[in-house]
Amino acid sequence: MILQIDRYTRLLAMGAVLVSCATSSASAQSAKVFTIKANEVKAQVAPTMWGLFFEDINQGADGGLYAELVKNRSFEFDVAGMGWKEIKDQNAEGTALYQNRGNVNPANRRYVQLKSSSGRYGLANEGFKGMGIKQGMQYDFSVLARQHEGSTGNLLIELVDEKNAVVGTATVKPTSTNWAKYTATFVAKTTVPKASLNIMLADKGGMDLDMISLFPRDTWKGRKNGLRADMVQLLADMKPGFLRFPGGCIVEGRTLDERFQWKKTIGNLEDRELIINRWNVEFKHRLAPDYFQSFGLGFFEYFQLCEDIGAAPLPILNAGMACQFNTAEVVPLDELQPYIQDALDLIEFANGPATSVWGKKRAEMGHPAPFKMTMIGVGNENWGPQYIERLKVFTKAINDKYPDIKIVNSSGTDPNGDRFDYLDRELRAMNADIIDEHYYRAPQWFLENAGRYDNYDRKGPKIFAGEYAAQSVRIASPDNKNNWQCAMSEAAFMTGLERNADVVVMASYAPLFAHAEGWQWTPDLIWVDNLRSYGTANYQVQKLFSLNRGTDVVPVLLDNKAVTGQDGYYASATIDRKTNELILKVVNSSGKKQSGSFVIDGLSKVQGKGSLTVLSSADLNAVNSLEVPEAISPKVSSIAIKNKKINLDLNPYSVNMVRVKI
Ligand code: AHR
Repeated sequence: MILQIDRYTRLLAMGAVLVSCATSSASAQSAKVFTIKANEVKAQVAPTMWGLFFEDINQGADGGLYAELVKNRSFEFDVAGMGWKEIKDQNAEGTALYQNRGNVNPANRRYVQLKSSSGRYGLANEGFKGMGIKQGMQYDFSVLARQHEGSTGNLLIELVDEKNAVVGTATVKPTSTNWAKYTATFVAKTTVPKASLNIMLADKGGMDLDMISLFPRDTWKGRKNGLRADMVQLLADMKPGFLRFPGGCIVEGRTLDERFQWKKTIGNLEDRELIINRWNVEFKHRLAPDYFQSFGLGFFEYFQLCEDIGAAPLPILNAGMACQFNTAEVVPLDELQPYIQDALDLIEFANGPATSVWGKKRAEMGHPAPFKMTMIGVGNENWGPQYIERLKVFTKAINDKYPDIKIVNSSGTDPNGDRFDYLDRELRAMNADIIDEHYYRAPQWFLENAGRYDNYDRKGPKIFAGEYAAQSVRIASPDNKNNWQCAMSEAAFMTGLERNADVVVMASYAPLFAHAEGWQWTPDLIWVDNLRSYGTANYQVQKLFSLNRGTDVVPVLLDNKAVTGQDGYYASATIDRKTNELILKVVNSSGKKQSGSFVIDGLSKVQGKGSLTVLSSADLNAVNSLEVPEAISPKVSSIAIKNKKINLDLNPYSVNMVRVKI
């Protein structure tokens, strides 16, 4: 044992010597000289290049982006009373019975029947890990209610804090024995991170209740049935080129019955049939028994969100296959037609005139103008011949009716291996429009693969890097962190995506959102709790690339080669024709300070002053957090440029971006 310790100490000491040698030799080194061939345009950067992947995972929609505060608002969870508990105030006596109407109303079977004989009897809703309430904010309550014969009593609404102190209250007065919608509004007296909502019969009698809802007034754009403004703002701030929705594995579902069906997510809220969220049971170590999809955030709202944030919509539809990690059910080929019809009808819903069957539904929901959808995805992480067989039928049907719509095809779960090779070969043989590649890999993989697309077929299908994130431990480990090492490695890789923008036309980090208490999967781009939200270091990298996209790719060369990790340097450059600027991105992935001299070739003039934006941390384990949301955030300064040469001193572990007028 002693021997082992000795050996270990010696090795450590040797390591220290080696590191210090490397450091001193590096500082002695003169700056490397790079050449930017600014007049040799290699590719156009697609406006869609840097975008977003949204899935209802980690409480991303219900309890997250969708601002509804009441969980299980229509009692349709598997356990009707989940999220609710009985309240007996002032020695109340009463009963709460969950009634099931069955097929009389298949999308909304259940409601609760309350009866009270004394005191204040009712139910309390716990919200999604509590309800985040803000002082001075207005809250809109609504309910479908009907009085029992002979009852005329009121419904008392109370929002209470963790100690049961009332922070907001209202009274609703249902007047009819027929179902009707009633609303009330009140202002919260204090800020509460985990409030709950009490609903009580104020008088003796009986009442039936359904669709019990509470929204803050400050939703994104103040919309009813709206989205959490702070979360949308983080997305809007990225100016994303596209938004992929609704996933991810929930597109497939654990079983075909539990697949995502867009038609069930539009129209009146009470007609949107709730289903279990696949992530409810996916990870034994992160079970989420109360995770369902209310579809309050449905396909209309997704399209509207895209429009709001200027992102091209990219819906992904089920290919007739349930998740192959789960049941791997497939629909028989001769029964695929309803699935294909869903795809065709979706295109009409998004783009058809308000006089068409599905365009009319869009118009009725308040959007007569088309949503201008240009792409559709068929299948998420599907693999094997069963996928290709089904995809071919979809492709023909979509191409026949909508030849201008580009189809996104999945190349499976991994960026290499048998499944990938098979699908890549088949999809290329089919002359696929766009292939969706996924990589959840170690940071080192990202560093080593910055040249992945340098030798891809320039004439073949375009590539969508549809889901990627560096994993600090391993894929799906609950210990993965959104640390700087992962974010910086992704930035290095992204210089390779940018350099190959003639092949790669879209890229998105995944997953997008996670609730600090409601997550199943980590790492994630944006973390929230009930009141706060922040962008991770990875978010800062994504935002930097997206806000500084440029229009034309030009080469950055070191010894006449692309910069793909030589001595830890990664680089790419674009020209922005709209602003007449050169945009240079350089990553120093090494732990030492390095210098680079970037000589700009082929331009008649370059301004003497530009801006330099740096993301860096000496600590590869550094993270942003709810408490310190901007630990890793861009630092902007001005930079002098002499004789068409950008001289950069690059911090260890840094992502650097220069913009200069040309
Ligand atoms: O992003 C999380 C999951 O990872 C997605 O749902 C799936 O497509 C991938 O396996």
